[in-house]
Amino acid sequence: MTIAKDFIVIGSGVAGLTFALKVCKFGSVGIITKDALEESATKYAQGGIASVMAEDDSFDLHVKDTMETGRGLCHEDFVRIACGEGPARIRELIELGAKFDRVRGAGFDLGKEGGHSKRRILHANDLTGWEIERTLIEAVQAQENIEIFEHHMAIDLITRARLEEDVQPGSPQDEALGLYVLDHKTQKVETMVGGIILLATGGAGKVYVYTSNPDTATGDGVAVAYRAGAQIANMEFFQFHPTCLFHPKAKSFLISETVRGEGGVLRLQNGNTFMESYHPLGCLAPRDVVARAIDYEMKKSGDDYVLLDVTHLEGYRIRERFPNIYKTCLDFGFDMSREPLPVVPAAHYMCGGLVVDVSGQTNIKRLFASGEVCFSGLHGANRLASNSLLEGLVLSHRAVEKAVGIFKESKLSKTLLEQIPEWDPGSAVDSDESVVVSHNWDEIRRLMWNYVGIVRSTKRLKRAERRIQLLLEEIQEYYWNFKITKDTLELRNLTITAQLIIQGALTRKESRGLHYNLDYPETDDKHWKQDTVFQNRVHRLITQTNPRIVTHE
Ligand code: SIN
Repeated sequence: MTIAKDFIVIGSGVAGLTFALKVCKFGSVGIITKDALEESATKYAQGGIASVMAEDDSFDLHVKDTMETGRGLCHEDFVRIACGEGPARIRELIELGAKFDRVRGAGFDLGKEGGHSKRRILHANDLTGWEIERTLIEAVQAQENIEIFEHHMAIDLITRARLEEDVQPGSPQDEALGLYVLDHKTQKVETMVGGIILLATGGAGKVYVYTSNPDTATGDGVAVAYRAGAQIANMEFFQFHPTCLFHPKAKSFLISETVRGEGGVLRLQNGNTFMESYHPLGCLAPRDVVARAIDYEMKKSGDDYVLLDVTHLEGYRIRERFPNIYKTCLDFGFDMSREPLPVVPAAHYMCGGLVVDVSGQTNIKRLFASGEVCFSGLHGANRLASNSLLEGLVLSHRAVEKAVGIFKESKLSKTLLEQIPEWDPGSAVDSDESVVVSHNWDEIRRLMWNYVGIVRSTKRLKRAERRIQLLLEEIQEYYWNFKITKDTLELRNLTITAQLIIQGALTRKESRGLHYNLDYPETDDKHWKQDTVFQNRVHRLITQTNPRIVTHE
């Protein structure tokens, strides 16, 4: 079955929903989302959204903090746009019904996080992401022009280059026409065609065994776009959040940085503090510094965790300011108002991604990206805390004007669309070896944690590279021979994302921000004050005999 929409949005977090809500005035919109509509990283964001709101703050200071944290790799043009346009986008959210905490009778109750020189984090208790997601979902559901496809997963993009031999993938002649989508409730594959496609699929924390991310974060957008010839940059910069709850059943539950913003102190298990010897900002140093310091101290002492002590705050204040964190920790047996919490770093945010301009446009015509999946230049080598929801809001808003312009100016060619074959499973059969998928899934996540984690070395990276290459071959074969499932697709995407992280890390012969290589411990501005960019040039056509576009070799 072919479904046609003017705008196709893949992903339902802040970036996807913001775009959908704004473009639905210009045409029909289909939102594809892998799980239930609300299930995205946005929903789980605790700390908040950074924006200049206080009188003693300024755009220049927000820009400076972002650029310093990004260690010389931020793109100043977009940093200025994001910081400057943030307040207007936040006012729109408030008009839609989002409620951020206020100080009684005064302005916003602004929080503080690592790397910020001022209080500028708007929040809704410690459930800020959910407040934003809830607001956007209500607004999107009220629009007749938006159709929501829950439990649908993008398989691969259909591009001009995949239909016409003389158009090279990712070249100026290339354009996105649609995609194949798996409805994983019915196992049917549908063809969707659309005038504009926005990838807003979020990050890839599941590439590591310990992550604060939801299960949906499997690098889908990066892998889908990379296979089609889009440019991908700076994947070596994967941010590890310093403080996730250490408990076998807690799934690396995040303890927001705003806890440290309210005076929470990191301690070793013997009670000693340590961050003052790593950075003048101590426990509120940028995340790369704090995560690396914890990693170092844990390796030195052999301890499994460090402590986050917030017992200086009154119990009522903790329950009021951090109700979700307090309750979740209590469920795991920790009363944070009385005892320090055991914490460890876990994979949290993908700072690299799909290269876009300041309007979210990729190098493939009609293909846009926004949010964690994209590389806008905002985060550089290390993201400033709470700048991510901001990026999604600002970039998706800016993408609307350009996307609508392209949509109005150049309609998709009917003859081209008629060339798109329906998905054909070929001779693929049901798999009787699902263990292959679960085994490979575990292997990738563990090898990434051990060899491509907070501290890297060239030897470990090369070892990881070899393993990933073998796994890719195995997965490719599996993908070809067996009917696809959500698990197979996620595994394929995760492996390609892992490969891109490793390639980026091996290419960058220095240490900077989130990328630390023991063999190149210094920052080398002379050679490496630049982004690492990769583009897949393999050109495979979709034909009746090759309907499954096995493009990655
Ligand atoms: C946190 O609340 O610590 C997470 C905020 C972020 O990652 O920006």
